[in-house]
Amino acid sequence: MDLIDPFGRTIRDLRISVTDRCNFRCTYCMPEEGMKWLPRSEVLTFEEIERLARIFVEHFEVDGLRLTGGEPTIRAHMTLLVQKLAQLRVPATSASPFAGRKPDLSMTTNGATFRLLAHELRDAGLDRVNISLDTLQRDKFEQMTRRDELVRVLDGIEAAKEAGFSPVKINAVVERGVNDDEIVHLARYGRDNDVQVRFIEFMPLDAGGHWLNNKVVGQDEIVAAIHAVFPIELLPARGSAPADTWRYLDGGGVVGVIPTVTKPFCDDCDRVRLTADGQFRTCLFATTEFDFLRLIRDGATDAELAAEIQRAVGTKWAGHSIGQVTFVRPRRTMSQIGG
Ligand code: GTP
Ligand code: 5AD
Ligand code: SF4
Repeated sequence: MDLIDPFGRTIRDLRISVTDRCNFRCTYCMPEEGMKWLPRSEVLTFEEIERLARIFVEHFEVDGLRLTGGEPTIRAHMTLLVQKLAQLRVPATSASPFAGRKPDLSMTTNGATFRLLAHELRDAGLDRVNISLDTLQRDKFEQMTRRDELVRVLDGIEAAKEAGFSPVKINAVVERGVNDDEIVHLARYGRDNDVQVRFIEFMPLDAGGHWLNNKVVGQDEIVAAIHAVFPIELLPARGSAPADTWRYLDGGGVVGVIPTVTKPFCDDCDRVRLTADGQFRTCLFATTEFDFLRLIRDGATDAELAAEIQRAVGTKWAGHSIGQVTFVRPRRTMSQIGG
């Protein structure tokens, strides 16, 4: 059966954060030091993740599962989890394009160690990968991620292509005064390397709390910068995906923008999230969570878990209110939610 929220939106996509830990410390996400990691005992096991994912896919016809972090590749034996999730099947009776097949399995990674895992993840059944890359300058990269890993990330992107992932998407968070001078460079990189760059408006989920509205570079400004050098045209409606996409008129591929702040896309949202410690969130910016770790470990049956999922989805709000006085920052940072 479909999982439908109070605003009539059907939930199709579950983002699963597998760890709150990360080998980077991006300034827009984590503090330099002092993150308090979850104790291992409070992190969902692969069996628990698989059990919850099975209910979402087989009972509620969710057809997309995305693994996130922190940094998902630093959790040991990720390939095993992908293998387990690849066994799931969307019901044959579903209206989903994935009916009778495994759900779309994807991962969002910083790419630094992706070379080591690319082939085995692909063989295990991972369909797609999105890799973060905010700058092509080594010193800027170190400034933004607090790690000198640009070369390894670029190599991770190559490894993803070599392993057969397609499309490989690149996530570039744009922050005014930091990397907004690199929009065209990054766009050119995407064209030259056959990857789909998506520029992301900076969101108020950084641990440092340094987000300010004037640090957001909006979609219109990003598009104008690209169009001035490489003419582009808007592609038809994005559906439920967060990115608007444009194609280069000269056939140079596709470029996207994720305009959370200046053009919220909440009306089309089809997602829910599970944090590494088993908290279910119905919005990236939600301030309420539902404790599935406790429920599972207290012995809840599948029927009870399904009922609680429905109850939680029944509280999904219409959308976030970034930029308005009513906006309340979630207690968790991006790395603890999974993006
Ligand atoms: P695709 O399935 O490839 O389109 O992936 P995606 O863009 O949904 O996922 P990804 O993990 O690559 O996220 C890219 C950016 O979109 C990140 O900054 C996410 O935080 C943001 N994002 C993902 N889902 C949502 C959402 O529901 N709302 C908002 N505002 N941002 C989101
Ligand atoms: N604003 C926008 N995007 C962010 N990400 C992390 N923190 C922020 C933020 N404050 C992005 C990362 C990664 C994805 C999971 O979320 O760059 O691509
Ligand atoms: Fe790590 Fe991703 Fe946060 Fe950067 S954005 S610190 S790579 S979790």
